[in-house]
Amino acid sequence: MDALETLFEHQSMRNYTSEEVDPVRIANIEKAVRQCSSTCFFQLVTTIRITDRKLLAKIGLVSGGQMHIAKCPQLWMFCMDFTRLSRACDYKLPIPFDLFFAGVNDASIACEAALVAAEAQGLSCVIIGGFKRGLREICKLLDLPKGVAPVVALCLGYGDDKYREQQKPRLPKHWTFMENGYSDPYNEAELESYNQQMADYYQNRKYNTRTETWSEAASEQLKHQPRLSEILAVFKEQGFAFDEAPLPESGKKTSAAS
Ligand SMILES: Cc1cc2nc3c(=O)[nH]c(=O)nc-3n(C[C@H](O)[C@H](O)[C@H](O)COP(=O)(O)O)c2cc1C
Repeated sequence: MDALETLFEHQSMRNYTSEEVDPVRIANIEKAVRQCSSTCFFQLVTTIRITDRKLLAKIGLVSGGQMHIAKCPQLWMFCMDFTRLSRACDYKLPIPFDLFFAGVNDASIACEAALVAAEAQGLSCVIIGGFKRGLREICKLLDLPKGVAPVVALCLGYGDDKYREQQKPRLPKHWTFMENGYSDPYNEAELESYNQQMADYYQNRKYNTRTETWSEAASEQLKHQPRLSEILAVFKEQGFAFDEAPLPESGKKTSAAS
């Protein structure tokens, strides 16, 4: 599939056949991830491909009982990894917030590139962020050293077509696209119409049907976010800090790598 077709057809898939993903497809996904843009060309991402069934089961369990993690053929964990930079540049831990942010950006970009590369080859995926509730256990399960932390993950395999649904309707386009500045698009009537569209979608889809609007579903999710203090504590244990980096000795600012 070409890039646009792949992007337009995206939908998350949480049910897979037992067919193994072949090495050629895996190599193509790796190639796409390797070619991703990277903040200051720091090359901050390490991808851990998890295929061990016991490990997948444990990760599924500590991620709030997400069975699709336990059952998927493989889970790719995109970690921000400062170990290379800290050795090559003699840069001491802890990693400050601006670099933490760079790591989150790079890992997220890598994850979406992997998803597109996978879907373009007929595979199906779901991005996983919900493992954060088991962040400490996951760092241990994957033997992550200081300077490395998981950011986002991707379940992938051959989707089980009977679970393919209609695509989820998105918010009205002018709510999420603007030109030359922000203009508040919020409008009760349009929200109500979108909520109705989502309620119809949830009620009429094949699996996991429910009677909820988008606002209700999002409000429910907001109540169940993992504790930020707990997540920050784990990132600190992994060698990250949430303050400003010390100024370089020269005090000079440098431009981004090109
Ligand atoms: C950063 C991020 C984290 C996500 N975490 C999870 C997750 O932990 N479990 C899950 O089942 N889906 C997860 N999703 C998938 C979203 O639920 C999904 O993309 C959204 O409902 C839209 O559906 P669609 O991708 O089928 O269009 C995540 C998506 C993103 C971008």
